[in-house]
Order: sequence, then C-alpha cells, then structure tokens
Amino acid sequence: MAMNSGLQWKFRMTEHPFYNYKVVHQFAIMTVVWGIVGMLVGVFIAAQLAWPALNFDTAWLSFGRLRPLHTNAVIFAFGGSALMSTSLFIVQRTCHARLISDRLAAFVFWGWQVVIVAAAITLPMGFTSSKEYAELEWPIDILIAVVWICYAILFFGTITKRKDKHIYVANWFFGAFIIAVAILHIINSLALPVTMTKSYSVYSGTIDAMVQWWYGHNAVGFFLTAGFLGIMYYFVPKQAERPVYSYRLSVVHFWALIAIYVWAGPHHLHYTSLPDWTQSVGMAMSLVLLAPSWGGMINGIMTLSGAWDKLRTDPILKFLVVSLSFYGMSTFEGPMMSIKSVNALSHYTDWTIGHVHSGALGWVAMISIGAIYHLIPLMYGRKAGAMYSVKLIDLHFWLSTIGTVLYIVSMWVNGLMQGLMWRAVNSDGTLTYSFIESVEASYAGYVVRFIGGAIFFSGMIVMAWNIWKTRQLALANPTQAEEEQHPDAQEVLA
Ligand code: HEM
Ligand code: HEM
Repeated sequence: MAMNSGLQWKFRMTEHPFYNYKVVHQFAIMTVVWGIVGMLVGVFIAAQLAWPALNFDTAWLSFGRLRPLHTNAVIFAFGGSALMSTSLFIVQRTCHARLISDRLAAFVFWGWQVVIVAAAITLPMGFTSSKEYAELEWPIDILIAVVWICYAILFFGTITKRKDKHIYVANWFFGAFIIAVAILHIINSLALPVTMTKSYSVYSGTIDAMVQWWYGHNAVGFFLTAGFLGIMYYFVPKQAERPVYSYRLSVVHFWALIAIYVWAGPHHLHYTSLPDWTQSVGMAMSLVLLAPSWGGMINGIMTLSGAWDKLRTDPILKFLVVSLSFYGMSTFEGPMMSIKSVNALSHYTDWTIGHVHSGALGWVAMISIGAIYHLIPLMYGRKAGAMYSVKLIDLHFWLSTIGTVLYIVSMWVNGLMQGLMWRAVNSDGTLTYSFIESVEASYAGYVVRFIGGAIFFSGMIVMAWNIWKTRQLALANPTQAEEEQHPDAQEVLA
C-alpha cells in the first residue's frame, strides 16, 4: 500500500495497514509503565538514604536489594523499552518496509517483559551475580541472550528488506547498539552454574574486574549512549522539521564514537590492582571521547539552525534539545572524572551518582520522553506529537528539568564535600573527620535529591495521564486521525 499517497488510516486499536505499529506501541506504553516503576523505586531508595528507618528491617525492602532493582528497571526496562519501541519504528519508516515477522516481534516484546518481571522478582529476593548492571542469575541471562538475538534478527532482517540502498544514520547507531550489547552481555555473563539461582563467573580476580568494567562502561556507551543517539538522529530532525545539520559529521561521529568507547572501561578501576598502564590507556581514551561526544551533540543542536523559534512553542523539541545539553554536560564531566587525580577525589562519592543521573535523567530519560511524545499520537492515528495537551507536556518538561537540576546539584555538593572531608588531615597526620561525620554532613543533599527525584517522578505521572487522554480522544474521533501528516523519513531527513 503506498504510504505517500495521503491515504489515511482509521485508528480503532487495530493494526497499521503497512507497518507493524503494534510492537512499537506496546514498547512505547511499557516505557512509561517501567519508567514509573523504576523511578518510584529510585525515589524510595533516595528516601532510604536520607531516612534509613525506611528499610523497615525487612530484607527485601533493604537498600542493597532495591538498588539493583532500580538500576535494572530504569536502564533495561524503561531505557530498553524506549530503545526497542523507537528502533523498531525508525527501521520501518526509514527502510519503507514492514518488520520481517510479526510473530518474532511479539516474541521480542513478551520475552523482554518476562525478563523484566523475572528481574523484579529475583533481585528483591537477593539472588544476584553481584556484577553491577549484570546482576541477574544465569537462567535469566540465557533468556536475555535469546530475546536479544531475536531482536537483532528482526532489526537487521528489516534493514535487508529496505527499498533504498542508503541506510539512514539512526539505524547505524541502533545496529551498533544491538551488536555491541549482544557481545558484552554474552561475554560478561559467562558463568558456571551451581544451582538454578547461583553461579560463579568464569573469570577470576583482576580479569573478572576488567571484563566487568569493559561490560559496564560499554553498557553506558552502547546501551545508554549509542542507542539514544539513534533516537536523536531521527526525532530531532523530525520534530524540528529540518534536515540533520551535517550528514558528514554524523558519519565521523559514528565511527569515532564506537572506535573509542570500547577502550575507556579501565577508568572505573583507577588505583586498583589493574596494571597501571591499562588505567592510563583508559584515562587517555576517555579524554579523547570528549571529541566525538561533542561532535554528536553539536550535530543535534545545530539541526535547529533557522528553527530556534520553535523552542518557544514546542515542548517536545525542548525535551529533545535540553537532553542534548545534558548529554554534552555529562560527556564533559565524564572525561574530567577519568583523570586519575580527579578520580582520586570523586570515586566512591556522590559526585559519581550526580554524573550518572545527569546522563540518566537529563539525557536518557529526557530524550526518550521527547521521542515518545512525538511517536505515541502516531500510534493512535494522529499527527506526530499531537498529544491531548501541549500544556501538560510543557509542565512535564519543567518538572523533569527542575528535578534533574536538583538531583545533580545536590550530588555535586555532597560529592565534593565527601571527597574533601575524607582526605582532610590534621597537622599530626590524623584524619580531621570521622566517616560518620561525612555521612551526617550529606543529609541535606540527600533530602534535596529525594525532592528532585520526586519532582521528576511526578512528571512521569503527568505523562501517563496525557497519553491516556490522547488515546481516549483518538477512540472518540477515529475519522479525524490523519497519520499521513507524518511524511516519510527521507523527505525530512535526507
Ligand atoms: C526519579 C528518578 C530517579 C531517582 C530518584 C533515582 C535515585 C537513585 C538512587 C538513590 C541511587 C543510589 C545512589 C547511591 O547508591 O548512592 C541511584 C542509582 C542509580 N540510578 Fe537512579 N534514580 C532515578 C532515575 C534514574 C534513571 C532514569 C536512570 C537511568 C536511565 C538511573 C540510573 C541509575 C544508575 C545507573 C545508578 C547506579 C549509579 C552508580 O552505581 O554509580 N536512575 N538512583
Ligand atoms: C565521554 C563520555 C563519558 C566518560 C568519559 C565517562 C566517564 C566516567 C567516569 C570516569 C566515571 C567514574 C568511574 C568511577 O570513579 O568509578 C563514570 C561513571 C559512570 N558513568 Fe560516565 N562517562 C561518560 C558519559 C556518561 C554518560 C552519557 C552516562 C549515562 C548516560 C554515563 C553513565 C555513567 C555511569 C552509570 C557511571 C557509574 C558506574 C558505576 O560505578 O556504577 N556516563 N563515567
């Protein structure tokens, strides 16, 4: 069926006549659902750090068990659903082809949900491999590998069906993200099972640490960065209705980023038993990483050249552009923190937590939210970005921005203070402060972080409400739905 003919499809909770929107829609909804769940756990553990009594002396409510639940829920459930929704949407639109198999798409969706539910049950029960961001035990790891490979087949299979020879740059970033995550997950999770719920890593000692942080850093580089850059390269031009600022820069950006990221992992292991030269290579590569990261940010922001006025009226664009500013900030801060003498101060402190969330809330969450606002109305047969209430999107934008700023500023203050207190010595060589004094001094920062997190979280509730009303509106007026207002990708992006 020709998609450029102005042909309209009527939304009745049915399938799109040409594309598989069902799986895109399912993942988009779950992005919001898991975002709410994961951030609620985040707000709760933030409260526990300010008021430890909230552990309620209950093992499964303790910080140590809920923290990995938070990280897995926000990274893999929220972030993963956003990436799967947008990548499966973009690959179809830019290749002008339907996904190769509806059944495979359904398997990827349900398989991923089973993984998430399994994580949500086993982590509070205390089952963990103890590797950060790879805590899940071996049966779940195997399921992740199977689902991920099916996702790869779905994505790359659709690329092979494309109508144009050209592969749009967003797909390059998604492709790298899918391949890298498969390799990282499989290699880092290799383990000897002892029982159904316990296994031991096949690596030992320093090698285990190195493999883990090669994985951990590239989870940041490919899961939390490359995939979301794919989102950036499609949705920023679409929402701004401008072509990408520089296609050439996007190609340089892609190759430089993936070539450099893989070497930077040792910056997580400064001053450990890892050979010193390895730490220095990690530091040097992290400093170099600033260049491609900022190249990408500039490419995204400059896409708005000549359309800056849109920022006054379009809160979706605000989400996308402000997320790029946070991306620029966190990718400036990261290289600085990788310098060994700076890391000697920042490591183990809340500064790291602040850095993480300027990337996680400011970049990952905000670009996902912007993309979902653009995409969700299309699922209901409406124009791109035509949500029930633009005012509510604007409100959400401000809640997210204020929440992120409160979070990261409080953690910077805490982090610097902790680092300085821990290293302060008296003239006789004794420590000026005991550890507990630094914990007491951190209290105010923890309260501010809790407030910031709660504000960010409340924005997600506003989003859920707005989506619900958009759906109601579309159901009430199916004939007004005009999906084909959304031009085919190449018209805007090429
Ligand atoms: C309402 C929003 C959020 C709140 C209140 C929140 C709160 C927290 C808290 C309290 C911690 C533990 C800090 C510590 O151990 O000292 C944490 C860790 C973490 N969070 Fe969040 N979070 C939120 C959103 C997110 C999002 C959206 C992401 C990712 C997309 C994320 C990723 C992480 C990661 C990766 C860590 C571990 C950091 C590390 O080990 O250095 N968070 N979060
Ligand atoms: C040029 C880019 C970046 C560089 C060079 C970089 C560097 C660093 C450094 C040096 C640390 C502290 C390691 C430690 O002391 O333990 C760190 C931690 C972290 N960064 Fe980044 N960062 C970058 C971008 C980002 C972005 C964009 C995100 C998120 C979207 C992010 C997420 C994290 C996380 C989750 C951790 C905590 C890991 C842990 O200990 O659990 N980083 N990064």
